[in-house]
Amino acid sequence: MCGIAAYIGKKEGLPIVFANLKKLEYRGYDSAGVAFFNFPDDELGINVIKAVGKLDSLGKAIDGHRSLPATSAIGHTRWATHGVPNESNAHPHIDCHKEISLVHNGIVENYKELKVQLTKLGHRFRSQTDTEIIAHLIEEYGFDQALKKIVGAYALAVINKDEPNKIYFARLGSPLVVGIGRGEYYLASDATALAGLVKRVVYLKDGQKGTISLNGLKMGRVRPRIERLDMDLENAQKEGYPHFMLKEIFEGGEVVRAALRGRLFPKKNLIKLGGLESVEAKLARINRLEIAACGTSYYAGIIGKMLFEDFANLPTEIRLASEYRYYSSPLHKNTSALFISQSGETADTLAALSKANSRKYLTLGIVNAVGSSIARETVAGVYNHAGPEIGVASTKAFLSQLAVLNLISLHWPNSRKNKRLLEELALVPSKIESVLKKSKSIKALARKYARYNNFLYIGRGYNYPAAMEGALKLKEISYIHAEGYAAGEMKHGPIALIDKNFPTVAIVMPGRVYEKVISNLEEIKARGGPILAIAAQGDRNIKTVADDVIYVPKTMESLTPLLSIVPLQLFAYYIGVARGHDVDKPRNLAKSVTVE
Ligand code: G6P
Repeated sequence: MCGIAAYIGKKEGLPIVFANLKKLEYRGYDSAGVAFFNFPDDELGINVIKAVGKLDSLGKAIDGHRSLPATSAIGHTRWATHGVPNESNAHPHIDCHKEISLVHNGIVENYKELKVQLTKLGHRFRSQTDTEIIAHLIEEYGFDQALKKIVGAYALAVINKDEPNKIYFARLGSPLVVGIGRGEYYLASDATALAGLVKRVVYLKDGQKGTISLNGLKMGRVRPRIERLDMDLENAQKEGYPHFMLKEIFEGGEVVRAALRGRLFPKKNLIKLGGLESVEAKLARINRLEIAACGTSYYAGIIGKMLFEDFANLPTEIRLASEYRYYSSPLHKNTSALFISQSGETADTLAALSKANSRKYLTLGIVNAVGSSIARETVAGVYNHAGPEIGVASTKAFLSQLAVLNLISLHWPNSRKNKRLLEELALVPSKIESVLKKSKSIKALARKYARYNNFLYIGRGYNYPAAMEGALKLKEISYIHAEGYAAGEMKHGPIALIDKNFPTVAIVMPGRVYEKVISNLEEIKARGGPILAIAAQGDRNIKTVADDVIYVPKTMESLTPLLSIVPLQLFAYYIGVARGHDVDKPRNLAKSVTVE
């Protein structure tokens, strides 16, 4: 998701725009840039500064530059769609003569034909983006006419050399907010960036356009609808949710959608992964995979192992990264090592990666934080594009990791993919959303179970790692002892713990092991242990053994953890809240563990 920030007023615009881009960081990005009128240059030319990767690199690049007060500055964080993340593709874009500069959020669907037309008219392009077209369109036809030629979506902020005291804006399909301060005006992709700066905002509607200048906000004949903005930055970022964790759980469907977007094409029985294109030929020679990760990412990795063995017929080992680095495993040929990390900075995972690199394994990454160390040091990889995860206990990243693991394993050379499975994968986001609709009843169940001090989580097959992840969530934020166990192992130990004060959370999905899990539950029931089951819609049988049931939609077996984990995340969250804990920042834990 791209982010736009712009400022015009009596203060220096550049630092303000940069600070506002920082606040939009949570939307995710891979490059960034600003355009502004320089000070103390006499000649009012537009300056453009861009940088790939973290905003701090842009910060360094603009250090020492000053923008002229009372003129405009615009800025952008980009999440690549057309063209790789590099400086020339980063916004702001300019026209042929560097007299117009703009930032854009959205997509120009007819950009190819427009490019042909503009090229014929003599325009020359510097990037591979659809956005640059708009700068040339404005150069050729002026702002209003240019907008009419665009098919697609946009939020735009545009400056030009002839009117340095004005910023043009327009919105169609992509969000844009105008902030009104005292003698100063802002533009931002969402109100988050404006919280604490202004009290009055206009949420632009589709088709609205206008200008901001020291003379005010003008929107043609439209009277702007000014609304009050009463939020501080943190509340703005939480978007009305009481905690980041809950907000992020509720983003579950959307992050899976984002992970699949532009990659999964069920009708063609096709998966495209741009991040693996450079190693496609090498993948065909790989006959062994090692996966290493920590915490939640490790549990995703166990499911990954099952997927790779099931669908890619690829022998796969899964290791805790902290073990991998010190384990003296034999050196293998034709081996690839896959590292999964939300932050991309976890010290143990990074150390394991450097060991695999030194062994000359083909190292791959599944990373959420763009430009992070693990993303940089792996040979190739697939980004999650889940947006920043702020709650310390990982939730949405886990779902996104599972989505990407499905994509990679099904994309692997000679994998056993079929249309039906891909279609089913495409349905997962809306199925996750239907589970989220049950949050009220899950909250009620959480209240009922909040008094227990021990929990057992069980599952089999693909849902055994999901059970461990569910237990980890409960441990992390409610400080309740919870163990995740393979249901079949119950009788070899944990069953000794079961009594009326030791509840079991069981994931019981249709598939190869359904009946087996039911018999495990019968054993628990016979010993008086309370049972909360996560089961598939339509399973009436489960009610005969479980005290409580949370139903999730049916799906194919390998996809079930994507649905079964959602109620477990909510269950842990509500118990943590019921017990009065700071769920976003659990005691003793850190979001990114950069020490061994
Ligand atoms: C920390 C976090 C966990 C996370 C783990 C691995 O322990 O609290 O939520 O799962 O690190 O982090 P990574 O960023 O490598 O996925």
